Amino acid sequence: MATEKKKAAGVRRKAGQRDKLLRLDWQYIEACNMDDYSAEDWALMNRQRVDYNAEERARQALEILTASRDAPTFGYLINNYEHCLQTATMLHRDGHDDDTVVTGLFHDVGFIVCPEDHPGFAANLIRPFVSEKNIWMLEHHEIFQRIHLHGFYKNEDPAFINAREQWRDHPFFDWTEEFVERYDIVAIDPRMESLPIEFFEPMVRRVFSGSQSL
Ligand SMILES: [Fe+2]
Ligand SMILES: [Fe+2]
Repeated sequence: MATEKKKAAGVRRKAGQRDKLLRLDWQYIEACNMDDYSAEDWALMNRQRVDYNAEERARQALEILTASRDAPTFGYLINNYEHCLQTATMLHRDGHDDDTVVTGLFHDVGFIVCPEDHPGFAANLIRPFVSEKNIWMLEHHEIFQRIHLHGFYKNEDPAFINAREQWRDHPFFDWTEEFVERYDIVAIDPRMESLPIEFFEPMVRRVFSGSQSL
C-alpha cells in the first residue's frame, strides 16, 4: 500500500502535462512566462480566481491542519493536531459561535512549522473571516500564557511574565484570558474525546465563505 502510494506520488504529473482547471468551462492562460501575460490574461485569471478561492481556500487550510494528524509529539501526551481539535471541541460544547470555534481549531496550526510566530501564522490565515476580537485573542494568546508556564521561560522578570497587564483594560483582555485558561492550556488531555475534523469542516467552509479577498 505504501509503495503504491509512493509510486502514485512520483507520477503525479509528467513533463508536458497540465494540471486540471477547477471548472470544465474555465480557460488556461497559454504563456509560460508571467512577463508575457496581457492585461486580458490577468483579468481572466482574476475572474476564475474568485470562485477558486471561495472553494479552495477552506479546503487547503484544512489540509494544512490535517498534515499533522499523525505526527508524533515531543513530550505532550497528545500531538498538536489533537490539541487543536480539543480546543475546538470544548469551545463548541460550551456553545461558542462558529467564528470562535474555527479560531480555536486553527489557533496553533503554525505551532510546529512557525514556532517563531505561531500566533501570527494563525491570525494571518483566518484574518479575513473571523472577528477582530478573535484575531486579537490569537495574536496575544502566547503572551497571556506566560503566567501559566512556570519555569518555561529563561527570562523570569515579572515585567516579562506579566506583560499581559499592559492590556488589562483592553476590551478583549477577558476573552483572551478565558481562552487561554479554559480552552488552551488544558487541551492536552488524552482522556478527552474530541470531535473529528469532519464535524468542523462545514463550519470552516461557512466561516471562510463569509469574506473573500484576492
Ligand atoms: Fe498557541
Ligand atoms: Fe494552544
